Amino acid sequence: MKKIMILGASVYQVPLIRTAKRMGLYTIVSSIPGNYPGFSDADKVCYINTIDKEAILNVCRDEGVDGICTSGTDVAVATIGHVNEAMGLAGISEEAAVKACDKYEMKKAFAAGGVSASKFIKAESLDEAYAAAAEIGYPVVVKCVDSSGSRGINVVDSEEELKEAYEAAVGYSHKSYVLVEEKLNGKEIGVDGMVKDGEVMLIAPHTKYTYKFKGATIPAGHSFPYRNTEKVLAEIDKQVTLAVKALGLNNCAFNSDVFVDGENVYIIEMGGRAGATGIPELISIYYGFDFYEKMIENALGKMDDLGISDQRTSCMSKLLMSPVDGTITSIDEEAIDRIRARGYDIVLDYKVGQTVEQMHNGTTRIGHLIASTDDERIVNGVMDEIYAAICADGTPMRELWKK
Ligand SMILES: Nc1ncnc2c1ncn2[C@@H]1O[C@H](COP(=O)(O)OP(=O)(O)O)[C@@H](O)[C@H]1O
Ligand SMILES: [Mg+2]
Repeated sequence: MKKIMILGASVYQVPLIRTAKRMGLYTIVSSIPGNYPGFSDADKVCYINTIDKEAILNVCRDEGVDGICTSGTDVAVATIGHVNEAMGLAGISEEAAVKACDKYEMKKAFAAGGVSASKFIKAESLDEAYAAAAEIGYPVVVKCVDSSGSRGINVVDSEEELKEAYEAAVGYSHKSYVLVEEKLNGKEIGVDGMVKDGEVMLIAPHTKYTYKFKGATIPAGHSFPYRNTEKVLAEIDKQVTLAVKALGLNNCAFNSDVFVDGENVYIIEMGGRAGATGIPELISIYYGFDFYEKMIENALGKMDDLGISDQRTSCMSKLLMSPVDGTITSIDEEAIDRIRARGYDIVLDYKVGQTVEQMHNGTTRIGHLIASTDDERIVNGVMDEIYAAICADGTPMRELWKK
């Protein structure tokens, strides 16, 4: 029986864990202890922080795993690279993982690889950040280099706002420096895909929906297909392929944030793992193959082709968020099941009695909706129905959202 190590046990890794089990793999899950939904599906659980490279490597060696994988999170990718390198496993290399897990290293690699991306300067102090912003010219984006979910990333319109943004970036970081970037214009999309044996096997651009909250951009959902001219689509393919090569990503899924400004395409960032927010589910629906299965096969070094279907099915995901800090006091499960019976995939992360946080970044989701349509009006209508079925502190979230 082949063994796989999956890093993380959150809602984003649950489908990966279940898929590994379904494929007949002995599935080991590592995560910090906590109320994570992935533990109950695993064959074995290790309460180890996924960023603890050496501890994870020790377990992988002891167990003799055949592959290591994650989905939807960047923090574990450096560990995956480390284990792959040390054990000679397929999957992302350590060097590529390091570049993909530090936005400064990533931007340097992009520049060296001729990838179209925003100007950037590394700042090791507040004074250096002021100098960098002055050189680039306001507005700028100040970034924590090693977080995700928009944590520690803020647009800064003027000198007065820089200190707060710098401190936020440092506050979220394990590194001693931050990144100051030129602020790009245009429309942000997502591009996911898969690379195997140096060949980019899938480039999957999708429309991205965001919530704005206190200057931060929070992912809200995605849809397929992404529509644009042949020329722009070809430019997206070109820049994404350049970025994959620049980072040296191989035998892994990738996820990137891309700005499209007229006919110009800029890569904001790229990670060596699949995106969150329902992206693997959408890719599976749109292209007609099981993306989670392919991630695992790729990590095991035994992926053939993807088996993309000739048919395309439009689809959309949306994150459910809480409008307030509060306690879930009721969920009308029957109403939710009636919506599910109409073909909507609904995941709720919290049960009655649990506390939820008001939306403030990509991790404060309370669930998601996946629909086989890319008609946003229909999807928003269904979101409304779901919010009407969930009460926080006695009031339906649908009412709370209107306030
Ligand atoms: N240079 C930039 N110009 C404009 N917006 C940006 C820029 N960099 C980041 N952003 C916005 O901030 C979001 C988060 O930044 P990103 O680098 O993707 O970090 P994270 O790892 O948190 O997703 C992006 O999705 C984008 O909306
Ligand atoms: Mg991003």
